Amino acid sequence: MITDNLNDGARITPFRAGAWDAVLYDNKHSFVAKYGEDVMGWLAPKKNEHILDVGCGTGTLTYKIAESGAVITGIDASPEMIAKAKQAYSNIEFLVKDASNFYFAKKFDAAFSNATFHWIKDQQNALQCVYDSLKDGGRFVYEMGAKHNIESIHEAIREALNEEGFELNTTIQVNYFSSAGEQATMLEKVGFTVLNIIQFDRPTELVGEDGMKNWIVQFCQAFFKLIPTERVETIINNAVAILKETNYENGKWRADYKRLRIKAVRV
Ligand code: BEZ
Repeated sequence: MITDNLNDGARITPFRAGAWDAVLYDNKHSFVAKYGEDVMGWLAPKKNEHILDVGCGTGTLTYKIAESGAVITGIDASPEMIAKAKQAYSNIEFLVKDASNFYFAKKFDAAFSNATFHWIKDQQNALQCVYDSLKDGGRFVYEMGAKHNIESIHEAIREALNEEGFELNTTIQVNYFSSAGEQATMLEKVGFTVLNIIQFDRPTELVGEDGMKNWIVQFCQAFFKLIPTERVETIINNAVAILKETNYENGKWRADYKRLRIKAVRV
């Protein structure tokens, strides 16, 4: 059984496909926001600029951007994440919105997004929504998982699903990772000009002895649709055992992150 209390104190909620555990996200996966600070460097927010944060999660980076004096609005599809963001940063506007289906009458000077686009199935529509929300000359800076991102983890989960007889679940597409070329083509299709695009490996340490398990619980729920909770626990443990061969060294778990960082401008 996946319980509410793990030995290391992380709170793990039972699986709910599509739902996010906002507490686990902040407690164990704060590196998402920490790495996002590098992406903020590309945004270079200025005082009084109006900026949109697409997929703001619990608002950690939104707040950091606001510290520059910019006026920021954070949007996220998860009501749990938005509730936590509102509670933590009551002076910032946070709204529940779907990244591939939103509209703002007011237009922003810039848009920002960190570790969100690989969750969006209809990326073309999302880019259109971002484009439509920007003023002419407005910039869009974002980072997402590149092609082959966290491939070892998804492969281990598929292998463990197969072993337990859930072949059908191996076909579920959990994320949408792009190459630089695919992203540039989609950006240009909606009218953006791409100013800079880089792709790089960023192996990422997952905190604690249960780091890989916690990561899978937080980010891979979609693989376990309609599987009884007790079987899910076995599948995850088996996937973790597979990954121990390749992703665990000197007492540390690593995820094979590959990033795509992009700056584009609305012309
Ligand atoms: C990422 O940031 O690349 C990522 C995080 C969780 C699941 C999939 C990808």
